[in-house]
Amino acid sequence: SAFALSPRRSSANRRPGSSSKGEFSAMNILLIGSGGREHALAWKLAQSPLCDTLYATPGNPGIAQAATLIPLDVSDHGAVITFCDENDVDLVVIGPEGPLVDGLASSLRIAEIAVFGPDREAAQLEGSKAFTKEVCRSAAIPTAAYEHYDTKAAALAGLAGFTAPYVIKADGLAAGKGVIIAETQAEAEAAIEDMFGGGFGDAGASVVIEEFMTGEEVSFFAISDGTNVIPFGSAQDHKRVGEGDTGPNTGGMGAYSPARVLTPELEARVMKEIIEPTVAHMAQKEMPYQGVLFAGLMLTETGPKLIEYNCRFGDPECQVLMTRLDSDLVSLLHAASQENGLAGAAPVKLSDDTALTVVMAANGYPGTPEKGGAISLPATDGATKIFHAGTADQGGALVANGGRVLTVTARGKSVTEAQVRAYACVDAVAFPSGFCRRDIGWREVAREQAERR
Ligand code: AMP
Ligand code: GLY
Repeated sequence: SAFALSPRRSSANRRPGSSSKGEFSAMNILLIGSGGREHALAWKLAQSPLCDTLYATPGNPGIAQAATLIPLDVSDHGAVITFCDENDVDLVVIGPEGPLVDGLASSLRIAEIAVFGPDREAAQLEGSKAFTKEVCRSAAIPTAAYEHYDTKAAALAGLAGFTAPYVIKADGLAAGKGVIIAETQAEAEAAIEDMFGGGFGDAGASVVIEEFMTGEEVSFFAISDGTNVIPFGSAQDHKRVGEGDTGPNTGGMGAYSPARVLTPELEARVMKEIIEPTVAHMAQKEMPYQGVLFAGLMLTETGPKLIEYNCRFGDPECQVLMTRLDSDLVSLLHAASQENGLAGAAPVKLSDDTALTVVMAANGYPGTPEKGGAISLPATDGATKIFHAGTADQGGALVANGGRVLTVTARGKSVTEAQVRAYACVDAVAFPSGFCRRDIGWREVAREQAERR
């Protein structure tokens, strides 16, 4: 290892999850991240009787309600390890993909610090589209047919093997902007020129061209300890910035859970045909996948197919999953951090309620968002919760400090009910320089209305 490692706490010190009586003692936890996803995780972690002190870095004003915020440079793995050693941190939970792809979980594991999140090699499932496609090919996982090209000339020539619409993906992490759906060959050629011309930074050094799939999209989550894997529920995101799913792609403008289009039968197929073979393949390749595996799925006429993997919870999908979670989050995440920790694990318990979340974004998003806009939040009741994403505390006043600013979340007996509650809360938020979509959950609301007729 590149760092001077101090030995982990002596065996005389408490070891969470492994006391001789088989009981858990409360743990100190460090959460990494600053988005709405991390606020939801912090909120749920802090509620657990198994959570002693919760630290978060860098956090945000919402996370500060549940955790002690600390400044840490998470690209300095040695500094994170030192913080954990000095503060008896028993578990690190990594929210976003950046530090995972950067190998923070690998460094923590080498230092024998329990961490929820995959190692650098396993995080390639999100970090490299070409890597994921190879895994799919080797493990016979249903996904769009594809080819991978390392040069512009090869990619341009390769287009002939596909038909419009063309799906062109920059290989590496591109903050959700690395996918171009080109309606014509000329547009496809321009996208390839752009990617190899550096328009996507390092992410464009190689590209994947794939078959266009049609169907409804769902997000599916499973947690794994590297060997065992259990479902963690479904959600449906709304990626486009505009109502009716129009305009440019974003990180996600709202979500609801569960996504009932993913029926129990389809979920079982996803586990058997997609998730389990992936986890088995990664273990066999000696890149065990520990953490949450987030599958972006297309429900095609011939069954569920993988669009892409992410190596973390979705944002804003996490907010709706955490709202429904009835199991103890600390024990789940800790179990996933331990070799075979999920062996014989009980299923994750999720409420039968629906949860729906609406993202309130700053004007300009997904382009350059307006910073510093004033925000005033209403009181919430037991059925609603406002998670902070890009907010900042400016001398005691809450202001916008990012693209996605708030995620307003509500639960209900149906998507229709949760949607009514979420928008009532949105309407009580004062955020004049922000906007949101007014139709989050529309597919399921339409289905619920059709059922009632
Ligand atoms: P990704 O970043 O891979 O999730 O892709 C962003 C979006 O592009 C997805 O949510 C899909 O809507 C769309 N997309 C990606 N790949 C395909 C495909 N092969 N066929 C159709 N749509 C796709
Ligand atoms: N909401 C989609 C994502 O987190 O990637």
